Amino acid sequence: MPDTLRYDPSAAHKYLSPVAWDSVCPLLENARQAVRDEVQLYNSKASIPAHMQPLDSGFIEWPQRLLDELKAKGDASQLGQIQIAAKRLRENFDRVVLLGIGGSYMGAKALFDALCHPFHNELSRDARRGVPRIYFEGNNLDSDALRALVEMLPQSASAPKTVNDRWATVVISKSGGTLETAIAFRVFRKAAEDYFGAGSADLKQAIASITGETGKLRNVTNEQGYQSVFPIPDGIGGRFSILTAVGLLPAAIMGLDIVQLLQGAADMTQSFFTAPTGQNPVLDYTGIGHLYEMTGQHIRLLSTWGKKLESVGFWYDQLLSESIGKDGRGATPITVVNTRDLHSRGQQHQEGCRDKLITNVIVEQHALPAVGIPAFATDHDDLNQYQKKTVSNVLSAAIQGTNEAYAADRRPTTDLVLPKLSEYSLGQVFQMLMLATVVEGRLLGINPYGQPGVEAYKKATMRLLKG
Ligand code: PA5
Repeated sequence: MPDTLRYDPSAAHKYLSPVAWDSVCPLLENARQAVRDEVQLYNSKASIPAHMQPLDSGFIEWPQRLLDELKAKGDASQLGQIQIAAKRLRENFDRVVLLGIGGSYMGAKALFDALCHPFHNELSRDARRGVPRIYFEGNNLDSDALRALVEMLPQSASAPKTVNDRWATVVISKSGGTLETAIAFRVFRKAAEDYFGAGSADLKQAIASITGETGKLRNVTNEQGYQSVFPIPDGIGGRFSILTAVGLLPAAIMGLDIVQLLQGAADMTQSFFTAPTGQNPVLDYTGIGHLYEMTGQHIRLLSTWGKKLESVGFWYDQLLSESIGKDGRGATPITVVNTRDLHSRGQQHQEGCRDKLITNVIVEQHALPAVGIPAFATDHDDLNQYQKKTVSNVLSAAIQGTNEAYAADRRPTTDLVLPKLSEYSLGQVFQMLMLATVVEGRLLGINPYGQPGVEAYKKATMRLLKG
């Protein structure tokens, strides 16, 4: 039985007039039709009219395409090839460094944090079931972090034969020209060449590359003949690329079930195109967010209940910011992890400015058995009364209590409920939020694709660097 997510906006609906919801429904329907038309235009390969560019609708049907291709071609399909490359990397290397930034990083990080053991890198190889330790770099210009990671990898050229001594690099950049990733790649490529030997068969296996069909990284990749190379399709933008090789190869290296991940996403697309409002997580989430934004709630707060979801929230921060933060408009995303942040931001959310719509992300069933609360003969902290409760019970009370407190002050909340954290449920979440972002763009008349504003800092940095 798939772990189907539920989106429940009822607590926020209460403060909206029925007229407001009724008035947004036809707009949502129009936006859904606009997205359908865009997919058709994208599929037709006709030239895209200037006012619609860029149009990166490729992500919408991509999960089903990959699944269909797997069924038709098996190992020869892209998914089959990703599985084979991931197996090779898993079996031959004990550490894998993933280089990438923005859309070429945040999806893999979200999957790692949500689905791998919280202390994965500290487990023995057996306890990791042969999955390499995973590191993320190339996502900043942090010299200390870069040096520390490179120096931690085995350096001596004497023994790169046994799996525990071997480390690999996966470089991910669609444009192939992003400074942070490109610099880090130089550093790890140099270290790998020193360790495995420039041009050696080992080196060709130790570097994998995921990049666009053209560009600087593609040129290096072709010249060096790395063994595992995957393309990032042209019609899928960086922050919409988690379900391409960008997220899938790292996920497969982590030992995750990428077919289930894609299935969750494909099912969400299907539900988006067919389900009516009221039963359509994409349209319902977009409609509520839009109505609240129109009445001044510009902050879109993703309130995650558990550490594993923080990076999913950061992934969404990028998605919403770069897609809708244009023309002086667009909601501001903020991710919090509770109950941790109840002790930092909680006061603001309860009594501060009425500029927020809170979406709780709640996982019903935890991955590991719940921790009990031990009893002691002396009860100084007065906790013996809870000895029959678990930490999960306390969390449930905190979720309910916090939301009751918000409701008592008419603070709007909605719930995104996942039966458990799994590849399938996360596939749904990613696709739901990507589709919702596009629908919201169409509602507001903002092109959700492209990120022209990001260029300004890049240009200024390059000018200063060259000066
Ligand atoms: O959404 C986007 O396109 C960006 O955030 C990119 O993902 C990010 O800038 C990294 O780009 P690249 O993959 O070209 O290195």
